[in-house]
Amino acid sequence: MTTLISGGRVLSTAGASAADVLVDGETISAVGAPGTLGPADSVIDATGKYVMPGGIDAHTHMEMPFGGTHSVDTFGTGTTAAAWGGTTTIIDFAVQAKGTSLLSTMDKWHEKADGNCAIDYGFHMIVSDVNDSSLKEMQSCVDGGVGSFKMFMAYPGVFYSTDGEILLAMQKAREIGATIMMHAENGIAIDQLAAQAFAAGKIDPVQHGLTRPPELEGEATSRAIQLAKVTGAPLYIVHLSASQALAAVAEARNEGQNVFAETCPQYLYLSIEDLAKPDFEGSKYVASPPLREKSHQADLWRGLRTNDLSVVSTDHCPFCFKDQKELGRGDFRAIPNGIPGVEHRMDLLHQGVVAGELTLGRWVETCSTTPARMFGLYPRKGVIAAGSDADIVVYDPAAKQTLSVETHHMNVDYSAYEGMEITGKVDTVLSRGRVVVSPSGFSGSTTHGKFLSRDLNQYLN
Ligand code: URP
Ligand code: ZN
Ligand code: ZN
Ligand code: ZN
Repeated sequence: MTTLISGGRVLSTAGASAADVLVDGETISAVGAPGTLGPADSVIDATGKYVMPGGIDAHTHMEMPFGGTHSVDTFGTGTTAAAWGGTTTIIDFAVQAKGTSLLSTMDKWHEKADGNCAIDYGFHMIVSDVNDSSLKEMQSCVDGGVGSFKMFMAYPGVFYSTDGEILLAMQKAREIGATIMMHAENGIAIDQLAAQAFAAGKIDPVQHGLTRPPELEGEATSRAIQLAKVTGAPLYIVHLSASQALAAVAEARNEGQNVFAETCPQYLYLSIEDLAKPDFEGSKYVASPPLREKSHQADLWRGLRTNDLSVVSTDHCPFCFKDQKELGRGDFRAIPNGIPGVEHRMDLLHQGVVAGELTLGRWVETCSTTPARMFGLYPRKGVIAAGSDADIVVYDPAAKQTLSVETHHMNVDYSAYEGMEITGKVDTVLSRGRVVVSPSGFSGSTTHGKFLSRDLNQYLN
C-alpha cells in the first residue's frame, strides 16, 4: 500500500521546501521534487499546506495517580487527542511509588499503555525511591528502552529526592549513559511558604503561584546544574517556566555543559492572571511550576530561538474542574496539579510562527526533531526522510479554529485555552503510514500505537 503526499511544502529544521513524499507501508520511501514520485495507491493533495514530521510530545501524564486521584485521560483518550492535534508520539512518565521497584513500575505502565494507544509511545521513569536496588535497576530500564529518569526537587513526602539522592542517581546516570530529567523547584522552601499562606487564611488558587516564586525555580535549577556538573550526568530541566531558571540553563550551556531544557505552551501563553480568576476558576490553571507573570514570556520565546530551550512539551496532566480540582476548594495545596494540553501544542506553537517569534524550522525542531534526538528516536521519528517512520502531519497554515472544551478531544471538562483563536489547523495525520486523522475525522485505532524502545540521548556534546 503506497500513498503519495503531493504539492505541499515539506518542513524540516532548515525550513520549507516544495517536495512530494512517497509512503510505502509504515515508512517514507522517498522525498522528491514535485511531480517526480509515484504513481501510488492513494494520493493526498497537500497543495497550500505544510508536510511535516509528526509532533513528539516528550512530557505527558496519562492515567497518573496524583493527590488521591488520577489524571483523567487514559492512554486511549489521550493519544487520540494527541493525534487530532498533530502529535504522533508521546513519551509518558511511569511513576515509581515509594516502596516499589522501577521494573514493576515499568511493567505497570506497559499494562496501562500496551494495546491502548492511537499513536506510538515511549516512557520515562520517575524515580521517587532512591535506594541500592532502584539504582541498580536503572540499567535494566535502559535495557528496556527507557533511558531517561525524572527526579523531583519539589513535592516533599511524595516524589521529592534529597540532594544526596539526586547525586547518587546522577552518578549512576553518568555511568550508564542515561539522562536525568529534573523538576527544579525548591519544594522544602515552597512548602513553608504555602503553610504560612494557608495559616493566614489565604486559600485561593492564586496562592499556588504566589507561594512558588520564580526565584525558587531559579535556585533549584542552578543546584541541579551544579550537581550534574559534579557528577558529569546529562541534565534535562523539565517544564521550565521562569526567567531565572532560563538564565541558569543558558549560563551552563555557554560553558559547554550537557544541560537542556523544555518549556510548555502554558508558560508561553497563560499567566498568573489566569490563576487569579475568581470563583475557583483559577484552579484550572494550577500546575507546578506555576504560571508566572507575563514578563517571563518574552524570555521563554527568546530561549526557544537561541536553543537554550530545546524542546516544547505539554506536561499534559488533565484533572476535571468539577470533581477533581474541587478537592482543593478550601485549601489551594490540595488542588491536583496539572493542565491539559496534549492536543494543542502544535497549534499553539504555530502561533509563535505567525507572530514572528519562531521560524518554521524552529517550530519543527522544538516540537519534533529535537525531542526525537534528545530521547533516542531519531531518525526513525522527527524527520521527513526516506527510511523514517511515516509519521506525517499535513498542516493547513491558513485555516482558522477556536479552541474550546466543546470541540477538543481530551477527556477533561474544560479548556485552559477556551476561546483562543488559532491560525492554522491539522488537516491530515499519518501514524506509521496509516491515516489516523483526516478532514472526515478520526480513522485511527487505539490498538495501533506501538511501544518505542528508545536509544540513549543522541544530542550530547
Ligand atoms: O503540575 C504538574 N506539572 N503536574 C504533573 C507532574 C509534574 O510535576 O510534572
Ligand atoms: Zn514536574
Ligand atoms: Zn509533568
Ligand atoms: Zn471528571
